[in-house]
Amino acid sequence: MKIIIFVETLKYGAGPALVEKAIIDGIIPLLLTNSPAEYGWLTARTVILPLHSDYDQLLQSVKDFCQNKTIVGVTTTHDGYIFLAATLVQQLLLPGPNIDVINDVLSKERQKKKITMSKIDTPSFFIARNSSMLYDYLQTHNTFPVVLKPSMGSSGLGVFKIASCDEYLHVADKLIWQCNRSCCSYLVEDYIAGDEYCVELFDGKVIGILLKRMSDIDPCSEISYIANPDISYQIYTNMVSVAESAAGVLALHWGPVHLDIIHSQGEFYLIEVNARIAGSWIPELIKDAYNIDLVDLLYNKITGKDVTIHHPGVKSSRTAMVDFILEPNDGVIMEQVANIPFIDKSFNGFFLKLGSRLFSEKKRVGYIYLSYDKKIYDRYVCFTLC
Ligand SMILES: Nc1ncnc2c1ncn2[C@@H]1O[C@H](COP(=O)(O)OP(=O)(O)O)[C@@H](O)[C@H]1O
Ligand SMILES: [Mg+2]
Repeated sequence: MKIIIFVETLKYGAGPALVEKAIIDGIIPLLLTNSPAEYGWLTARTVILPLHSDYDQLLQSVKDFCQNKTIVGVTTTHDGYIFLAATLVQQLLLPGPNIDVINDVLSKERQKKKITMSKIDTPSFFIARNSSMLYDYLQTHNTFPVVLKPSMGSSGLGVFKIASCDEYLHVADKLIWQCNRSCCSYLVEDYIAGDEYCVELFDGKVIGILLKRMSDIDPCSEISYIANPDISYQIYTNMVSVAESAAGVLALHWGPVHLDIIHSQGEFYLIEVNARIAGSWIPELIKDAYNIDLVDLLYNKITGKDVTIHHPGVKSSRTAMVDFILEPNDGVIMEQVANIPFIDKSFNGFFLKLGSRLFSEKKRVGYIYLSYDKKIYDRYVCFTLC
């Protein structure tokens, strides 16, 4: 009997998709979690073990359960558990990323220090060890806006753009809470205004690019993604070069890597690097726009199968995009949005989905997802205009 271990995983997207692949393959998914009730999609075939906070106890419970069974892989799609998954991978002698590399990348402080030693641009930054050091720094700082963030954070939680030291006082509680939660330092960065992209890599090579649209109300929160956006060849190649160089500098040669880059006045600033598969809708967008199945690639990689990647260049004429529906302030509308019936339609090469998906920290309640071939679209528009 074969087992794949998931050390927590995302509740949507790549998490359930990987579990489903294992089940189709006849492999038993073993989920390590203390909150199984949050995983609405778990089937009876998924085994659940508690995620002990004591590592030795955790390892022992995994070994006890897996006696006479073969563990074929360990993974997570969840930022908070990447290091633990890599530790298990190393201990169980399974395919996976190097644990020292993972340790370096998990901290934005350590990754920025390495990146600044290379030729890659990244916003200028300051590290404050505690909140009073941060406040002292902001009081004497005179170039605003700046971005404040936990040096070990994810999903934009605790990330704030502030235009003055006074504004810090409005966000201090939330920032301090996030930093205390992950026992990390505070990062202050120059705010870079520009177009923001996500770049997805696999085994050190770019497999797709997405343009993000950020919220005007909360400038550090994305409200839509467009995969394979209309960008010039020059922007495309610059972005590929920055992303692949960063992966090289950080020695990220194994599996999926997800980067944020801001293009501002001809310069490309690396915002952050994540040594994991992208969350949200990104794997699905990449699949629809570039015909590359990130979930398949990762599944094959963790189970030690051969992985062949064809890199898209700018050849794909397909695009895919998702727009998030944000929580309205009006309670009546809120009720309507919460009851969005799931819609999945396809029409002459256009694919449209609409549904509800809650992500309360980012005030998301639903989504509209669209994918189509841009060539069809051009023809379609021409036809309509004539
Ligand atoms: N220096 C910066 N300039 C402009 N925007 C930034 C900067 N740093 C972060 N952001 C915005 O905040 C978002 C979240 O910050 P990021 O460093 O990626 O943290 P997280 O790990 O939480 O995703 C980014 O995607 C970007 O939109
Ligand atoms: Mg980010």
